[in-house]
Amino acid sequence: MNTVATHTATTRGEMPIDLENEVLRMKKEMNAVLLAHYYQESEIQDLADYVGDSLELARRAAATNADVIVFAGVHFMAETAKILNPKKPVLLPDLEAGCSLAEGCPAPDFKKFREMHPNHTAITYINCSAEVKALSDIICTSSSAEKIINQIPRETPILFSPDKNLGAYLAKKTGRDMLLWNGSCIVHETFSEKKIIGLQMEHPDAKLIAHPECEAPLLDRADFIGSTSALLKYVQSSPEKKFIIATEVGIIHQMQKSAPNKVFIPAPPDANCACNECPHMKRNTLEKLYLCMKNRSPEITMEPELIRRALTPIQKMMEMS
Ligand code: 13P
Ligand code: SF4
Repeated sequence: MNTVATHTATTRGEMPIDLENEVLRMKKEMNAVLLAHYYQESEIQDLADYVGDSLELARRAAATNADVIVFAGVHFMAETAKILNPKKPVLLPDLEAGCSLAEGCPAPDFKKFREMHPNHTAITYINCSAEVKALSDIICTSSSAEKIINQIPRETPILFSPDKNLGAYLAKKTGRDMLLWNGSCIVHETFSEKKIIGLQMEHPDAKLIAHPECEAPLLDRADFIGSTSALLKYVQSSPEKKFIIATEVGIIHQMQKSAPNKVFIPAPPDANCACNECPHMKRNTLEKLYLCMKNRSPEITMEPELIRRALTPIQKMMEMS
């Protein structure tokens, strides 16, 4: 993992800095682990010790014996790593790297939602704030949600928050009646069904694979639905050679690396924009990664009481996944 293309940065009058090698050097010096989500820039993915989906990264964070966790992902992911490692510094290159799902579910409103349905079990997608996690019964990720729901007694009603698309997909898959929070991902709801149908007509040999955060009409057309890791495994093991990828485009980097002879076509968004890139994930850049390791800041800080309350539903997820 240590041979990487070099990117340099200069400050006036100084020698250029080889950012990749500096990140690798500081990683060793700090005894840090660098965890990266599949939606990060490819140059960050290539420097990481582990690249994974939300569940895998939480598991890696829980198991690490590194002294420092550097999290190349979004805020709720780094916060989860901190909840699992309250004594370790968790660095995030940009503290403003948020998530539309987390933003769309403020804790006071979620608290009211729970109070209105006191007999429901609250299963909450990991894409939420620590406050919302602390108000939930069980946390889940897209790769673990179905398994977790199937362990809840059938007579127990479920509140699923904050992604209505993932919730609707799970309700259909498990046959459960679930009350859904009205939230969505700005990236996954942007794909144009019309343009995807056009692509399928142009490439009849391509399989359409989609993340369950996509809207139902797109999921109904998909040949395979799964978390980022499940999508990656699918293209690696499938005998097919061509795929239309309906999730954030960052995942294509690992697909190309592990299946270089296959063709990956990014699903197009509605408008002529780059909105199949998550603007929150892309706030982390190689330069900010370098700076956060050099300055050991920004760092995730949380009240011990909040960590304690948010840990229980995360631990339940780990046990039930
Ligand atoms: P997974 O990597 O767990 O599939 O989640 C996708 C996502 O949108 C993360 O924010
Ligand atoms: Fe949140 Fe969507 Fe970005 Fe994932 S891709 S971090 S769900 S806004």
